[in-house]
Amino acid sequence: MKRYADKIFMVTGGGGGIGRAICLRLANEGAAIAVLEKNDAAAAETVRQVEAASGRAAAVHADITDWESIQNGVAEAEQALGPLDGLINNAGWAQRGNLEDTEPEDWDKEIAVNLRGHFLCAKAVIPGMVSRGKGVIVNIGSVNGLVYLGNPGYSAAKAALLSLTQSLSGEYGPKGIRTNMVSPGTIETDIETWRIRRQKNPEIFETLARWYPVGRVGQPEDIAAAVAYIAADEAAFVNGTNLVVDGGLTASMNPMIEEFVLE
Ligand SMILES: NC(=O)c1ccc[n+]([C@@H]2O[C@H](COP(=O)([O-])OP(=O)(O)OC[C@H]3O[C@@H](n4cnc5c(N)ncnc54)[C@H](O)[C@@H]3O)[C@@H](O)[C@H]2O)c1
Repeated sequence: MKRYADKIFMVTGGGGGIGRAICLRLANEGAAIAVLEKNDAAAAETVRQVEAASGRAAAVHADITDWESIQNGVAEAEQALGPLDGLINNAGWAQRGNLEDTEPEDWDKEIAVNLRGHFLCAKAVIPGMVSRGKGVIVNIGSVNGLVYLGNPGYSAAKAALLSLTQSLSGEYGPKGIRTNMVSPGTIETDIETWRIRRQKNPEIFETLARWYPVGRVGQPEDIAAAVAYIAADEAAFVNGTNLVVDGGLTASMNPMIEEFVLE
């Protein structure tokens, strides 16, 4: 029996690097997937890959920063596949830069995509989940929400997302809905910040590997595996937590220790 047999999940940003891996992983374990995206071509490609692997998926066009769009998107997803058992709040975006380069509109957009959008998606799916007495929400955070790594607006949104995760877990845990966060370290995807940094340094991921005690940066499948655990019924007692999936990055200061050794 597959862990996600008969489950229906919606994955926001399901056309992107991590989102697509989550869709494929959950579908492979039996879930039907609503691939919510603002990028239709990317969503269609994820649906194609899920179906090619004998899974069931539907593309849903929506912008997570727009309340009406999200309400319509959830209705469309449920019409196509059935009542949602789970929501993976994965869509995200970051501008490059430091505080000095962050204009007020950049700040607003980073908070809108990385925090407010997750709130809107949760708000849209929760009434149905409450009426059924069960549901799972996973918010994709970032190590940027834990320590200073640049991208201040994005980082502030990801830090606040932990608070939102805790609020959801406390308020809706008694109603059968578990909410958790998964916080990735560097993951090799084409997200705008990495695309631009990779243009400057094609070896950026190899360069960063020395910061990771496991000797490499992460792959989208590393995050999909963590999501597949925390959203599964076997994690029934896991609620309101933050699973950091970063190869030990934030637990260590390895390059600093190398400096000690050189002393
Ligand atoms: N790649 C990393 O190193 C890394 C590290 C930590 C956390 N994360 C987080 O993981 C998540 C996925 O990142 P990724 O690297 O796969 O990025 P990605 O750019 O490959 O995918 C993000 C997807 O979200 C979609 N999206 C963006 N804004 C949207 C909106 N308003 N409405 C609907 N869809 C929207 C995009 O179209 C895109 O397909 C993000 O939340 C990101 O912050 C990524």
